[in-house]
Amino acid sequence: MENKEKNIFLIGFMGSGKSTIARFFSKETGYELVEMDETIEKEANATINEIFEKHGESYFRDLESDLVKRITEKGGAVVSCGGGVVLREENVSDMKKNGKIIYLSATPDTIFMRVRHSTTRPLLNGNMNVEYIRGLMEKRLPIYENAADVVVDVNNKEKSEIVAEILSIVRQFN
Ligand code: S3P
Repeated sequence: MENKEKNIFLIGFMGSGKSTIARFFSKETGYELVEMDETIEKEANATINEIFEKHGESYFRDLESDLVKRITEKGGAVVSCGGGVVLREENVSDMKKNGKIIYLSATPDTIFMRVRHSTTRPLLNGNMNVEYIRGLMEKRLPIYENAADVVVDVNNKEKSEIVAEILSIVRQFN
C-alpha cells in the first residue's frame, strides 16, 4: 500500500506526541520505527540528560545530525524526531532527500499538560512552566512550519484519529 522507500519524519515540540504516534503508525503499516532520542541514548550508553551535562548541547546536536544521515541512507522508517532536530538546516535538507516531514502542532497548554511531570528533557528542567514553553515555541514555530511538508493539529484529538490522518496523508505522498 505505502511506498516504504521514503521515510516519514514526525517533528514538533517536546511532548507533541511524536513517539506515541510513530509507534502506532509503525504497528499499522510495518514502517520501521526509529525513536531518535532512544537510539541516541542506546548508542551513547547515556541518557539525554547525561549527554547534555557531560558534553553540552552542541555535541548532542552532532549526534542527531549523524543519526539523520544514517536514517536518510536507509529509508522506510517512521521517525520520531527529537524536538530540536529541525533547528539545523542541514538536517532538514537531509531529511527531505528521502523523506517527508509531518509537523505535529500543539498549543503551549497542551504541551505543558503532557510534559509537566517529565524530568528527562534538559531544556525544560528548571523551566517547567507554560510561559517558558510558549516563549521557546514562538522561537521555533517558523522553523517547524518551514520544515514541514504537512501540518497536523494534534490538540484535543485521540491517538487513533491522528494516526488515521497521517495514514491518509502518507497515501497522498505516494
Ligand atoms: C529537545 C527535545 C527532546 C530531546 C532533547 C532536546 C528539543 O526530544 O531531543 O531533550 O530541543 O526540543 P523530544 O521532543 O522527544 O522530547
